[in-house]
Amino acid sequence: MSAPHETLIDYYSRRAAEYEAIYDKPERRADLAALKAYVQTVMSGHDVLEIACGTGYWTEVMAATCRSICAVDASLAMLGMALQKSFPANRVQFQAADAYALDTVEGTFTAGCAAFWWSHVALHELPAFLKGFHAALEPGAQVCFIDNLYVKGSSTPLVRTDAEGNTYQTRHLNDGSQHEVLKNFPDEATMRQLLAPFANDIIWRDFTYYWCCTYTVAQK
Ligand SMILES: C[S@@+](CC[C@H](N)C(=O)[O-])C[C@H]1O[C@@H](n2cnc3c(N)ncnc32)[C@H](O)[C@@H]1O
Repeated sequence: MSAPHETLIDYYSRRAAEYEAIYDKPERRADLAALKAYVQTVMSGHDVLEIACGTGYWTEVMAATCRSICAVDASLAMLGMALQKSFPANRVQFQAADAYALDTVEGTFTAGCAAFWWSHVALHELPAFLKGFHAALEPGAQVCFIDNLYVKGSSTPLVRTDAEGNTYQTRHLNDGSQHEVLKNFPDEATMRQLLAPFANDIIWRDFTYYWCCTYTVAQK
């Protein structure tokens, strides 16, 4: 695994216990409710592979309507938080797995989902990541990505942009540590262009604080 990948996993492991505070911001509640309802509709009846599942916040949302979920994350601390939640019987399983090496995950998946993961993938890694993700899914599978829109005054400010165009934030944890985290904010046109070789039926929805992009994996 590359050093930047390990650094991101380490950051999220340290953040695991305080992670869900981001879902408590009062001004985002209405948006989250609308987003949850949308995701539940999109994932209804599917056998879902969820990558970078974190504390299982979206796993719990999708478990209400999907047929099954295999939820994976590379941070054992995050998975530990997820395992403390309760889910409908026999519908959810968790596994440690790297989102860039999904061949370790067994199962037949009619849908794939990742919440707040796309923004952490470096621009040059997106094509290989998508190829690996789609290979873990059935041909024609439904895919759903959710992530943040950049909202001035609400989002953590961007502190730098690298030569490739990736943007970075400085984040602080309750233990006093400071971390520079890659966080990209794609717009609809960029996403459509990136996904064009891999996807059909692309739908982009803007909420106030979040975006959601769904599509089906193009059959080769
Ligand atoms: C922003 S959090 C999103 C968590 C969850 N999906 C949510 O929306 O609440 C990003 C997650 O990516 C995980 N992660 C980081 N690098 C990873 C990798 N290479 N493979 C799998 N998961 C990774 C982190 O451990 C963390 O749980």
